[in-house]
Amino acid sequence: KWVSEKTVVVSNKPITKDCYQLVLKSPKISSLGEPGQFINILMAQEEMGFSTDPLLPRPLSIYDLDKEQGYASVVYRVVGKGTKLLSQLRSTDKLKIMGPLGKGFKYRWDEQKNLLLVAGGIGVFPLFLLAQSLQNQGHHVKLLAGLKNKEELPLIKPFIDLGITTEISTDDGSYNYQGTVIDLLKLDLLDNQYDFCYTCGREEMMKTVNNLMVPRDISVQVSLEKTMACGVGACLGCTCKTNLKQVCTDGPVFSGNEVFI
Ligand code: FES
Repeated sequence: KWVSEKTVVVSNKPITKDCYQLVLKSPKISSLGEPGQFINILMAQEEMGFSTDPLLPRPLSIYDLDKEQGYASVVYRVVGKGTKLLSQLRSTDKLKIMGPLGKGFKYRWDEQKNLLLVAGGIGVFPLFLLAQSLQNQGHHVKLLAGLKNKEELPLIKPFIDLGITTEISTDDGSYNYQGTVIDLLKLDLLDNQYDFCYTCGREEMMKTVNNLMVPRDISVQVSLEKTMACGVGACLGCTCKTNLKQVCTDGPVFSGNEVFI
């Protein structure tokens, strides 16, 4: 169940050099959205002051929901023309969006679980609402995150503020452990066992996470990033090579074994 609507920008602020948090007033999406789902931001709207280029909608995973205020927010990295335009939005600007789209994470458990989140870089974004939901249910949640350098620490701060146990690796060693998040995970698994793992990041990274978990009997859910256009299963532009499913409607969250084995 999703809606298509015109929303108003509440705020659009940088949280690192090139990542922005966009907060939108959308009572419908904030009440319907689930962790792991996404919003399609339609960029080619003349009335928004954008030209008809770039045409593709921007699918962005839901970062946070404030059901009381009716706010939905996404975090994005400025990587090209479309996201550059997004970064220029100011509060009170209007934006057409569709959402919440796709199938999100499995996150309701009957009994208390020991849960692991593994994020590569901006892969932390879809995991934030999930972390909050799991934490609220009383589970033990740990986050392993791989960053480029310490300048990216603001991406992780909201997790730390939530009280999530967090370990960070940086490519350049400027903070905490020097190495990749996979190196960090291998070390962590020497001492810890988990009931379930959630991961988001580059596909190679998620595949390795899944391969490390399979022999330990830990099921993994992965959030796939694919170029998407329509976001609702109509254009067939987002077919997953392994299982031939549409990432936008059957995913973006899949079980690791379904995608990687
Ligand atoms: Fe069109 Fe998935 S984006 S079918």
